[in-house]
Amino acid sequence: MRFAVGRCLPYLLFLLNASLVCAQPAEFNYDEAKVPSFELPDPLVASDGKSVSTAEQWKQTRRPEILALFQKEVYGRSPEPPANVVAKVLETSDHALDGKAIRKQVRLKLSRGERQVAIDILIYLPAKAQGPVPTFLTLNFFGNHTVHKDPAIILSKSWMRASKEKGVVNNRATEASRGTSASRWAVDMILQRGYGLATIYYGDIDPDYDDGFENGVHALYPKPAKDEWGSIATWAWGLSLALDYFETDEQIDHKRVAVMGHSRLGKTSLWAGAQDERFAMTISNNSGCGGAALSRRAFGETVKRINTSFPHWFCDNFLKYNGNENACPVDQHMLVALIAPRPVYIASAEGDRWADPRGEFLTGYYAAPVYRLLGTDGLGDVKEMPKLNEPVMHAIGYHIRRGKHDVTDFDWQAYLDFADQHLRDSK
Ligand code: GCU
Repeated sequence: MRFAVGRCLPYLLFLLNASLVCAQPAEFNYDEAKVPSFELPDPLVASDGKSVSTAEQWKQTRRPEILALFQKEVYGRSPEPPANVVAKVLETSDHALDGKAIRKQVRLKLSRGERQVAIDILIYLPAKAQGPVPTFLTLNFFGNHTVHKDPAIILSKSWMRASKEKGVVNNRATEASRGTSASRWAVDMILQRGYGLATIYYGDIDPDYDDGFENGVHALYPKPAKDEWGSIATWAWGLSLALDYFETDEQIDHKRVAVMGHSRLGKTSLWAGAQDERFAMTISNNSGCGGAALSRRAFGETVKRINTSFPHWFCDNFLKYNGNENACPVDQHMLVALIAPRPVYIASAEGDRWADPRGEFLTGYYAAPVYRLLGTDGLGDVKEMPKLNEPVMHAIGYHIRRGKHDVTDFDWQAYLDFADQHLRDSK
């Protein structure tokens, strides 16, 4: 089976709404009528042309084949973590956040020879938790201390992007940074609903600039070859390292960890969930190009633009597909398919045309046959993009909400409902 996905899809109302909300770089395509015609590679046809019709064939042959293609052509292969990772609990409190939370700050220390890297995990668990807690694991953009005003959170010392708004001066966080990203984190809601939240500053793992892979954990390894880890793969690798630690922490239910990320970190959560089958759930918030959006649509951000603006995010082989998306043996629906049968949630925002909301919906739609082959309900009977602010939740969940590129309480509410549906039952 091959899919013909073309120009004549009538989403004019949706586009009209979207165009009222947000201006995006003008030289890119935001016109559904100008989306090129393309054929998506079929996740259920192996490279030898044979169709994949059983769960066993998927697991034994096609899944490994697709995973290897994403490793080689898109994100790059990651090495094994060093054998000597040490987890040190730096601080704990059983009465954090006015008695609502248990707080833990754990440092993962990695070393190779003289070189050392420290990755700090901030963990909040509900104070009244009985037994191990299902937990959301996410990376953050400006340091753990930006997630909440809690004065006990250790102020990050790592390099970060300059930002007046976030209180970052000379690429270092200051006290003024505390809680500056709190609107994105819904900590109270997460705790009230009985979940934990664990977060890491992504720059602890790999600083987000084109540094020739000299810093962060790259410093512990030889320079990446063309098919080896770019920054997205490196951040995903760090998430798996956190999961290794959770396996040793009795307060966290490592079998019920949902990996969640926004934007570039949503691309990262998808890649983490695709590679590491220990993640019980995966959530992509507004991840767009190189994340949940189909590359072949070239709607909003394109492969060429992302490789040009962020040359360190993907492996060098991905450059081959600049302006040449059709030549790529995979597209992003196959990334979502790698997560099957585990639940995956894809969220878009109406005003975030840069991330191609419709392309994000379609990845779920075209991944659904794999989910169904593996015995789940895929995307249920959903065939068209749901209306604004009306989440759909099957094995694959999706919503498009009002508003801009961001993480809001509406998003968290949906993720918690989705987690109740899937993680509570699987206990
Ligand atoms: C840029 C980039 C996107 C990315 C976003 C973010 O807009 O083009 O691909 O998702 O930054 O991470 O905030």
